[in-house]
Amino acid sequence: MDCLEGILKRRSIRKFTDENIKEEELEALLNSAISAPSPHNEQPWEFLILKEKHTIEKLASKLKEEYIKSGKADEEKAERTYRIVSSAKVILIGFLNIKKLRSDSHNERLMGMQSLAAAAENVLIAANCLGLGAHWRAIPLVRPDIFSDMFRIPDYVEPQWMILLGRPGALPKPKYLQKEGVFHFNGWA
Ligand SMILES: Cc1cc2nc3c(=O)[nH]c(=O)nc-3n(C[C@H](O)[C@H](O)[C@H](O)COP(=O)(O)O)c2cc1C
Repeated sequence: MDCLEGILKRRSIRKFTDENIKEEELEALLNSAISAPSPHNEQPWEFLILKEKHTIEKLASKLKEEYIKSGKADEEKAERTYRIVSSAKVILIGFLNIKKLRSDSHNERLMGMQSLAAAAENVLIAANCLGLGAHWRAIPLVRPDIFSDMFRIPDYVEPQWMILLGRPGALPKPKYLQKEGVFHFNGWA
């Protein structure tokens, strides 16, 4: 797959096959994450990699339980989350290391978070180029407490996202790309 195709054909994959991710593929994904740009080349990230089936299932069960407890999902919706998360072969969780930021200012923190987003997109594109499926989920940002309790996360790293990885078991429906009113050449008309 060429570079542009890898970007244009990337989609969120929510169902994975039973086939594992190879070590060299995982290494390529991790190298893609740390190749992202960052302000002053701070590289303000750390990553947690979950590979063991029982750990992935434990996380999926915990997310289901918390989803129901929050009142935001019924049993069926929470079960769907469980199915998606537990079918991942690897879960990558991205953290902002605030000790690596030049200062604790709002803008430095924001740029750190943008760097983590760039790292995430690199992983999604690299996964697609390797024929793997990937899916970005916001839950570590929204409910950091769930992850802190489970993974002994130190207080100087802040969870930003998790990416589910595996081999695509189903492709999503084609999506509509909004172009009207999005691009402004040389200023707003
Ligand atoms: C910052 C961010 C957070 C996201 N969080 C979630 C999430 O919590 N749950 C989910 O199902 N998808 C999540 N997604 C995936 C989006 O739903 C998905 O990218 C969007 O529907 C477009 O589909 P595509 O990725 O196939 O192009 C997230 C995407 C981004 C960029």
